[in-house]
This record gives sequence, structure tokens and C-alpha cells, in this order.
Amino acid sequence: MNDIARAAQLLHAGELVAFPTETVYGLGADARNPTALAKIFAAKGRPADHPLIVHLPDASHLDAWTIDIPAAAHTLAAACWPGPLTLILKRHPAVPDLVTGGQNTIGVRVPNHPVALALLREFGSGIAAPSANKFGRISPTTAAHVKEELGESGEKNVAMILDGGACAVGIESTIVDMTSTTPRILRPGAISTDTLRQLLHASIEDHQPGFATRPEKNIPRVSGSLAAHYAPRTPLQLCAVKSLPAAISAALQKGQRVAVLAPEQTPLLPVHPHLIRRIASADFSQFAHDLYATLRELDATHCDLILVTTPPDNEAWRAVHDRLRRAATGSGNR
Ligand code: TXA
Ligand code: MG
Repeated sequence: MNDIARAAQLLHAGELVAFPTETVYGLGADARNPTALAKIFAAKGRPADHPLIVHLPDASHLDAWTIDIPAAAHTLAAACWPGPLTLILKRHPAVPDLVTGGQNTIGVRVPNHPVALALLREFGSGIAAPSANKFGRISPTTAAHVKEELGESGEKNVAMILDGGACAVGIESTIVDMTSTTPRILRPGAISTDTLRQLLHASIEDHQPGFATRPEKNIPRVSGSLAAHYAPRTPLQLCAVKSLPAAISAALQKGQRVAVLAPEQTPLLPVHPHLIRRIASADFSQFAHDLYATLRELDATHCDLILVTTPPDNEAWRAVHDRLRRAATGSGNR
């Protein structure tokens, strides 16, 4: 039996299977099986009222999971799936409460990864899958990260990890709530608000603040909207390029070991044995692709501080700002 067939069989038997998507690795369970779903929450240490995204083989499965689908949702599904877009729609009454966190809505998406799609087709139904990390921590973008994250509890709880290489996008899907009159972005991602606006020829509400403002406190139950998320154990600070040399010097003077993620042409970095340097790509897609792996790598150096230069302040970089801001807020819990 090949890996995909075995993975689908394990899912049918109520086991957890971690699998690659184009965004990040997911920790999957049969979305119809409450016992299997409960294992996801146990493995991640995730509060039970945080809803899960259901991954579908294709849009023809929508009717089994959702009701009252607005025309705009069909338009987005046709244009973006398979791809990094999650639609929040009204739930079908047969969907288990553990998937929806008891809400009357459900998040659904068709991922764009050959392994994920092969698994979904073989399984033939919805797979509920959050990112395969411990709650609040950095999302995994390789199979090795999944092992690292779920560690010993993973050995017990996760029946299989499908390895599909490094995720192409590297940050989680854009989430758009299609249940209100005006579609609303709940989590920015690789598919930008501008793209969604163009596809719908309509306005989109965007509650995500710019990186300079405080993270919003209260979009309920979107765990990615918590102020602290995606976080390394090492304290992480965002820093303007021009303030970087001073910030580095201050930390070195305190005897700290500092890791810096900054663009190649950043001037005035001292050469110092306690200074680790990684280059931040000037290209949004490449930066997003590298982000979680780089944060993980810098976290593993056991330095005292991670300094990341603030990326450009424009729409294209919004999803990256969002992740960095939350990573900074949640960092430092060793
Ligand atoms: O790219 C992704 O979306 C990845 C891959 C594995 O598909 N998944 C992912 O899942 O990021 P997770 O659980 O780490 O984040 C899903 C987010 C959570 O913030 C959750 O609260 C929100 O989606 N969500 C799920 N269902 C929802 C609903 N019915 N209403 C509002 N938010 C919902
Ligand atoms: Mg997550």
C-alpha cells in the first residue's frame, strides 16, 4: 500500500495524519469523527472553542459542509481554489461542534499541494486540520518541523507524517468571512485584500490594522487573531532599519547574544562573536516562504534576543507584518 492510501486508511480509523499544504503543514483528522477531532486539540494543547478549518478535495464538496452559500463565495472558490484562501460560511447542521467551536459558521478550503490533494481525494471527504504546531507557536513548513513541534506527544498522537517538502507559500491562508453582507478579512495571507476586491468587484471589510497600530483584541475565536501567536521562545523585537545598529549595540553591551534578520544592504552592523546575522529577502513571497523556518532556526541558536527589521509598510507585506507583530507579542516564553 502506498503512503497516501495508508494515510487515508488511518484517517478513516480515527487517527491523526500530518500532511503538507502549500501554506503550512496541517494536523489532519476525519472532520466527521468527534473522537478523532478531540485528538487534534489534545496534540496541539489547543482550547476546544477554537474552530478548525475543513479541507476539501474540491468545491463540489461544499454542500456537504455548508448551507446558504452566497454567489460571491462561489466566485472566490472558482478563482482561488485550490489555493491559500479559507472561506467562512454557514455550517451544515451535520458538522460536529468540535469543528466549528460551537459557532454556526465553518471555515473551508481546498489546498493547493499535490500530496494534500491526493490525500483528500483518496479519503473522499473533509479533513479538519489546524497548523501542526503546539498552540501559539511557530507553524511548521517542513515535515521535520512537525516532528520537532509535536515531539514525544506526536509519537503517541500522530499516526503518520506525510513529507511533501518545504511549503511553497510559508504562511497560513487568507481567511475571509462570507457570512456578512460585506465580506470581511479575518486573517491576512498570501491572497491579498486587493485581489479579493478585484475578483468580487465589491468592497471588502478589512479589520486587520496596519502594523504600526495595536493588534485588534476581539475578533472572536480566530486564534490567529490573538495578539500573541506564531511565537518563538526567544524574545523577538521589531526594529526600524535606522534604529538597528543602536539596538544591536545596546544588546551586545548588556552581554546578550543577538540574532538579526535584516535586508542585505542594512548598514553599520558590527562584526561581533555574539551577533548572528540572517538575510531578509526584499521580495514578499520569498520572505513569507522563509519566515517560519528562519524564526525556528534563530530560536534554536539559544540567543537572548531576535531583532527583525520592520518590513516595508504596504499592502503586499500586510500578512507578514501581521505574523511578525504577533510573534513579537507572544515571544519570550521559554
Ligand atoms: O493555511 C492554513 O489555513 C493552514 C493549513 C493547514 O490549511 N491552517 C491553519 O489552521 O492555519 P489553524 O487552525 O492554525 O488556523 C485556522 C484559523 C484559526 O484562527 C481559527 O480560529 C479560524 O481559522 N477559524 C476556523 N474556523 C472558523 C470559523 N468558523 N469562524 C472564524 N474563524 C475560524
Ligand atoms: Mg495555526
